[in-house]
Amino acid sequence: MTNTPEPTAAFLRACRGLPVAHTPIWLMRQAGRYMADYRALRANHSMLELIRSPELAAQVTLQPLAAFSLDAAIIFADILPPLIGMGLHLDFVKGEGPAIDNPLTRPYDIDRLATPPAEENMPGTLKAIEIVAKELAPRNIPLIGFAGAPFTLASYAVEGGTSRNFAKVKALMYSEPAAWKRLMTKLVTVQADFLVKQAKAGASALQVFDSWAGLALSQADYLRYVQPYNKALFQALTQAGVPVINFSTGTSSYLPDVAACGGDVMGVDWHMPLDWAWRQINYDRPIQGNLDPIALLAPWRELQFRADEVLDQAAGRPGHIFNLGHGILPNTPIENVRRLVDYVHERTSK
Ligand code: CP3
Repeated sequence: MTNTPEPTAAFLRACRGLPVAHTPIWLMRQAGRYMADYRALRANHSMLELIRSPELAAQVTLQPLAAFSLDAAIIFADILPPLIGMGLHLDFVKGEGPAIDNPLTRPYDIDRLATPPAEENMPGTLKAIEIVAKELAPRNIPLIGFAGAPFTLASYAVEGGTSRNFAKVKALMYSEPAAWKRLMTKLVTVQADFLVKQAKAGASALQVFDSWAGLALSQADYLRYVQPYNKALFQALTQAGVPVINFSTGTSSYLPDVAACGGDVMGVDWHMPLDWAWRQINYDRPIQGNLDPIALLAPWRELQFRADEVLDQAAGRPGHIFNLGHGILPNTPIENVRRLVDYVHERTSK
């Protein structure tokens, strides 16, 4: 992590377990289709255009900050574009999500993958981070950079898109263990470099998304095929000099093994009570989470009840960052987001 002086922003203080004036809140996928401003821009630009243009990506990043009193921004991008420079043909297909038309099917495909440095592979995102960080610094709002964890990226690279049972990626992993090791090692190289450079460009925290490892893998497979690479990634990120959030979903049955990979803050999904998750890791670091994003589709009394549950679980301990347990849904009412953000601040203000 960092040895710099104590930060004043609530989000960065909570990342270090320091006392805060109010519980900080930000929302995974806080920039996106539930906002009319975002839909208006998307009407004229593809997803990849938005990500690659530093000015447009900066604009989208700032949209939710203008609408709500959020405690942090997250750079507008996606976990998948780094695969493009490695040699995969990624597109975001309307109504279907991400699609790769040349997925990895054999060891030879893995050996052909390039490992370009981030300034060649993702220059638009690094530039967008510079722009947003400059804009937010005078407002004392931290900017979060992010990237996908190696298994989650490998799943897209092998399956060619979102998968239900991860059959292809698991079959490759089981049948070609040496090629699996080379694939994961390449992904760690690319992602560690990208994350460290995001911090250099001005991100004051980083989040690693391992969205699918927990859903796809047993504990034994996680320990064998994922944990060594996640450990290497988080180890490399200690040189970034900023707090790193280790977020995953579907991992409640082996949370201590996920925590053992590293990271300064644990990001947890909505399947378990927050305090149960915190106890699993012996309260050894701050925690982020974990309202079910679908609670935002309910009437206010239900949403408030569920936000209260999360806050009651956190019990005012230092080191809680309020967030959803997974990304916000496109049909979320704006008014519910506003009320939730304001409510978390009001209820926890000292
Ligand atoms: O949090 C933020 O606001 C930053 C932006 C962000 C996006 N994707 C924008 C996006 C972040 C952090 C992500 C991460 C991401 N992308 C993950 C990990 C987090 C998670 O939710 O588990 C994953 C698995 C992806 C891959 C991905 N990108 C999928 C499966 C899809 C299609 C599904 C969908 O929601 O449409 C995307 C597209 C995507 N990424 C959109 C946005 C705003 C929607 C694109 C559009 O405008 O059509």
